[in-house]
Amino acid sequence: MNLSDNEKRDIVKLIEAGRPLPDKYRFLLFEDKREVELVWNGKTNEVTNVVLPFQTIEQVDEPRSEKEARLQGSLFDFDSRGRQLKGWTNKLIWGDNKLILSSLKNGPMRQEIEAQGGIKLIYIDPPFDVGADFSMNIEIGNEEFTKKPNVLEELAYRDTWGKGADSFIAMIYERLSLMRDLLADDGSIYVHCDWRVNSYMRLVLDEIFDKENFRNEIVWKYTGSLAPQKDFSRKHDTILRYSKSENTIFNHLFTPYSEGAINRFDKEDNFGRYKITYRDGKEYKTYMKEGKRLEDTWDISIIMKNDGDFTNYPTQKPSKLVENIILASSNENDIVADFFSGSGTTLAAAEKLGRKWIGSDLGKFAIHTTRKRMIGVQRQMKKDGKNFRAFEILNLGKYERQHYIGVNPNLREEEIQQQIAQKEKEFVSLVLSAYKAEAFDGFKTFHGKKSSRLVAIGPINLLVSRLFVEEVIGECLEKKITKADILAFEFEMGLFPNIQEVAKSKGIDLALKYIPRDVFDKRAIEKNQVVFHDVSYIEVKPHFAKATRGKADLVSIELTDFSVFYNQDSIKEVEENLKNGGKKLLVENGQIIKISKDKDGITTRENLTKEWTDWIDYWAVDFDFESKKEIIRVPKKESLQPHIDGTVDPHQAKLPEFEEIWTGDFVFENEWQSFRTKKDRNLEMVSVAKEMQSGKHKIAVKVVDIFGNDTMKIIEIKI
Ligand SMILES: C[S@@+](CC[C@H](N)C(=O)[O-])C[C@H]1O[C@@H](n2cnc3c(N)ncnc32)[C@H](O)[C@@H]1O
Repeated sequence: MNLSDNEKRDIVKLIEAGRPLPDKYRFLLFEDKREVELVWNGKTNEVTNVVLPFQTIEQVDEPRSEKEARLQGSLFDFDSRGRQLKGWTNKLIWGDNKLILSSLKNGPMRQEIEAQGGIKLIYIDPPFDVGADFSMNIEIGNEEFTKKPNVLEELAYRDTWGKGADSFIAMIYERLSLMRDLLADDGSIYVHCDWRVNSYMRLVLDEIFDKENFRNEIVWKYTGSLAPQKDFSRKHDTILRYSKSENTIFNHLFTPYSEGAINRFDKEDNFGRYKITYRDGKEYKTYMKEGKRLEDTWDISIIMKNDGDFTNYPTQKPSKLVENIILASSNENDIVADFFSGSGTTLAAAEKLGRKWIGSDLGKFAIHTTRKRMIGVQRQMKKDGKNFRAFEILNLGKYERQHYIGVNPNLREEEIQQQIAQKEKEFVSLVLSAYKAEAFDGFKTFHGKKSSRLVAIGPINLLVSRLFVEEVIGECLEKKITKADILAFEFEMGLFPNIQEVAKSKGIDLALKYIPRDVFDKRAIEKNQVVFHDVSYIEVKPHFAKATRGKADLVSIELTDFSVFYNQDSIKEVEENLKNGGKKLLVENGQIIKISKDKDGITTRENLTKEWTDWIDYWAVDFDFESKKEIIRVPKKESLQPHIDGTVDPHQAKLPEFEEIWTGDFVFENEWQSFRTKKDRNLEMVSVAKEMQSGKHKIAVKVVDIFGNDTMKIIEIKI
């Protein structure tokens, strides 16, 4: 190290005084001397190592809309229930991609990915379009309602953009580092950015992927109507392409020749049409190819309302754009990933082009939009006689919640339990304060009181079971309590509305309410924004008919009722603040209401959700629920664990060993579904008839409402 004695003394003094070192020492002290480097407040090379197990929420094997599931055969065999029997299942993961990426990198799914050759291509389109992503436009009749983002989604935005470019770059830096580690050696990444961030992004990518691995700056040129007064119109985005190494997959793409160019190939021999070109004074025959080689400027129209795959997702990119990327940098059967997948453009293009895919998004609505889009793609491919793959929807579920509250899942079981007990206390007081209830001691099951109602809070890391509710009812009977609320993140499936009926018959008014994820946001609690909404309500009716063969019956399911209890904005406030001649849509207790003010200031209210079916966007049936157990893979207790705090463990290079455990829950297998699309707003209310053998069966019905939230109901039938 080339330091003078004075400099050495200065450094020691400054460190002892706890003061920062002057900038020049960065270049004197550290070996890695970069010529140019982007620095921002809080820059660190630390990358999270946390591993949370993925939980499968739902599986979509084959979009069956016909009576009998036909076997697709060939490459991906399906059983008689339409389940894909072998091969890779595509993955749509709901959650924060930082935790997803680190769990993919360090967890057991890594082995599954590596067995398929690794991830060959990543395309990402991070949220640089400030504020556009999480609020959703939802059609209701002829009106469009804007659903506000929930506080957690807003928080993600604040983390991203709260401190301007600094926080955006810090967010993307860590994620890009994780993506690099996940990419196969011959893989590549395409990062989509616009004029706001492309200058920073290039430097960050140079640092993470190495300047040598920069391959292209693609300019996506589009047209549009908005034009600034004093600037040239901004009509392009930039897509930066980096490879992981020198040896990378690349297929040339071609655009059609112009007529003039075709005419220049004016000669022909046995090898085809050609023209004469000259190089170094010599003559060469240049043959006509499929077209002109695609260059780095792409002229592609933005997505339009009348495009076949338009989803109304605010930041949806055109399919052609990602198709080019997929065709150029991956081959059939390769895994393609998009960790900011939005409406699922990359995933749909990957499926159509015969690639495997992994997608993730933090927005519930994005996941739901993608679910419908992918089923649409599967249906079309099935119709066209093409192969397609099953996909599953996963999340980090209750383990993600443990992470939010700071429980380290990589500790020993005993320590986890101690941490949970302590955190549980903090959690209970957090939820009580968000619910505006006071803490109350001396009960077995209750934690607090809100006016005349007692409040019980379910556990953080488990769903509320029937047993839990029965204990609450037991204590109500014992202590003559007539009004009780149970707050929980999740309730055991099929619990309501039956359990409320049971309570009612015993003279107890029992309300079950969801704790929103926003409860972890202190600012939301302070601002009084946390809403605990009631559980939705589903009613279904099975219909039976005799099957032609054996002891089987044909069973179909009719959806007969559905209610939600959401709120967004208050009628009073909207009426006060609305300008004359204006209108606004709001939600009150599960009704979408349009408030209009005429030019004289007279207000009128119109209920737009006239029918209960207006709230339904999608529903699906699993005719044999409980046939597929939800299995997660967790690290074996005795194996080496990566640290949660981001410190690098010398054993990190080795993956810990994992074991499979059953969570006690089941995977919803999406056997039949009906949903609204942009083009077709109709919904079938009765499922197909399914042949079922004699005996008892549990049938699960899942309803996703127009806000993208889902509820399930389980019924038992006997044949
Ligand atoms: C610009 S959009 C992507 C649009 C997409 N290319 C398409 O064609 O639909 C960015 C997406 O990133 C998601 N997002 C933002 N922060 C995220 C995070 N931390 N983890 C996962 N997804 C995130 C947003 O929900 C949004 O859907």
